[in-house]
Amino acid sequence: MQRLAGKVAIVTGAGSGIGKSIAERLGCEGAKVVVDYIGDPKGAEDTQRAIEKAGGEGEIFQADVTSSADVRKLVEETWNHFGTADILVNNAGMEHKAAFWDTTEADYDKVLDVNLRGPYFLTQAFVQWLRAVNKPGRIINISSVHEDMAFPGFSTYCCSKGGLRMLMRDLAVELGPLGITVNNIAPGAIATPINTALLNDKEKLNALLKKIPLGRLGTPEDVAGMVVFLASDEAAYVTGSTFVIDGGLMRNYHEQ
Ligand code: BGC
Repeated sequence: MQRLAGKVAIVTGAGSGIGKSIAERLGCEGAKVVVDYIGDPKGAEDTQRAIEKAGGEGEIFQADVTSSADVRKLVEETWNHFGTADILVNNAGMEHKAAFWDTTEADYDKVLDVNLRGPYFLTQAFVQWLRAVNKPGRIINISSVHEDMAFPGFSTYCCSKGGLRMLMRDLAVELGPLGITVNNIAPGAIATPINTALLNDKEKLNALLKKIPLGRLGTPEDVAGMVVFLASDEAAYVTGSTFVIDGGLMRNYHEQ
């Protein structure tokens, strides 16, 4: 049974990594999917093909989440094309490695713009359209274990994800009366392009694997299943929470 038949979902950063897998799964569950990307469209076209192969419908839009004009247009075009937008997955994200004392204003602005400002104003546009016609909706943010956990060398990333956690908590309260739920998914170490440097460094990778009780990196599919659940009717009463998908990484402190 398809769990999201008749729904329309927007997924940002859907041309690669976790976003690609989310878009494909939503499509398999019967949702019509807006595949957002920036830059090279090849990944987005791949995602669209995979959705269509599974019998779903995917529409590609190019929108830079750091531009409020772009995100407004993304929501408007979704409504013009599909007549609604029920599910928003704020997935697009980036990280930048720099010691705190070397971090530049440009590094700070870029990471905060993509990871926090983007979801903020895209969510605002998404909500404005739903509110105008009194429709419920689902907002799912792809955050990180680093919305809670320190990540030395990635202070900008931690700021952005910590901010995303509080945005989710605040909006769960503010949007609850509109019938809109808001939740975060906090992936741990997932094998995607954001981790290319780590994946190519055997020593670092093995050290990380030792810290993961389930003994492996996560896959984008491990994350996509939770998105489907949070977007489905089964999660109707779920709002204001973060769901950690990290193979046990966050809980793994012990003395030997
Ligand atoms: C980061 C990865 C990191 C993982 C676990 C993710 O949010 O994007 O770079 O490996 O958290 O620390």
